[in-house]
Amino acid sequence: MGQLDYIKDIAKFGLENDQNRLLSVVNDLIEYSKKTKKVNFAIQLQSIIKESIQHQSTNSLTKVGSENYYNRIEDKEVSDLILEKITSDYRLENIVADQEIMTNLVAFIEEHRKIEVLRRFDLPVANKLLLHGQSGCGKTLASYVVAGELHKMMIVINIGAIVSSKLGETSKNLAKIFRKAAIEDCIIFLDEFDSLGKVRDYSQDHGEMKRVVNTILQLFDYLPQSSIVIAATNQRDMLDDALLRRFDNIIEFSLPGEKEIKALIDLTLKNGRFVFDNKTSANKIAKEAQGLSYYSIQKTLITAIKRSIFALETPENMLSAKISTAIWKQLIEMEKKALAR
Ligand SMILES: Nc1ncnc2c1ncn2[C@@H]1O[C@H](COP(=O)(O)OP(=O)(O)O)[C@@H](O)[C@H]1O
Ligand SMILES: [Mg+2]
Repeated sequence: MGQLDYIKDIAKFGLENDQNRLLSVVNDLIEYSKKTKKVNFAIQLQSIIKESIQHQSTNSLTKVGSENYYNRIEDKEVSDLILEKITSDYRLENIVADQEIMTNLVAFIEEHRKIEVLRRFDLPVANKLLLHGQSGCGKTLASYVVAGELHKMMIVINIGAIVSSKLGETSKNLAKIFRKAAIEDCIIFLDEFDSLGKVRDYSQDHGEMKRVVNTILQLFDYLPQSSIVIAATNQRDMLDDALLRRFDNIIEFSLPGEKEIKALIDLTLKNGRFVFDNKTSANKIAKEAQGLSYYSIQKTLITAIKRSIFALETPENMLSAKISTAIWKQLIEMEKKALAR
């Protein structure tokens, strides 16, 4: 059967209201998609099935005040906290990092690929990862790489946004998100994790914030072995020891050195369409770019490519172009100046 045959069956059983056969075709399509390397599509279908099974108990007509009614409200509150639920196409080759970061990242991924082996030996699984370091150096990207390599969906939660919104229910809602992630086998990504520490100092609502931190500590302690939590922060020193100690692995991301900048350029130009107009001067600029983040360097390079294309007389007809190193140099200098300010 090909993909179109599955879709025909899905339409048929769906319209005939034949739930059992519908579910069985969708499951077949998931297997088929995995075999034909449409892994993200398969993961998304799986997630749809899991969600609809959860919803089925709450989806029929519900009496106000009944247990189902409250479940439905809860679902809505949880989804308000979730920034996005994503699948990822990112792989290890999409990130540039020094040897140490790479080794750590690969080891973390490996551990979850071979989780069965660890189980057989009764060994604990490292499943709590903290990424810290300067902004624009690949923390968010690294979390996408982990999700992509492990073919898992990822629930993205911005702790900063949660903390600054409705504190009242935060700890309860966090617990719900962790439960949801465990049921649906998703990675939880807690961005701006340092917000936890910040608010503890300044907030008027001291009590609730303490509760949130305690909830997180508890959720971390009782995290199922197959669940994964990744937290990211630009300010590791905002986190106290009790929190830091909970993480199995802590990876620091730092600004790229000369070698990493070269690798970032190669990665950005990997489709081979664009080459520098002057290789020597490109090398020199790459050296001068030290001190800037991966993000800034990549941004200036892409801007330089665009401007070089626009400078052509007939850009529409060109499939490749030379990147003007003069333009790029100027952009890099501007970034450095902005940084010095
Ligand atoms: N180490 C890296 N390797 C390759 N690209 C990177 C790296 N760090 C940052 N980038 C580029 O910059 C963008 C923003 O980086 P991001 O991961 O959001 O940084 P952070 O979360 O550390 O602030 C990424 O989507 C990517 O395009
Ligand atoms: Mg980030």
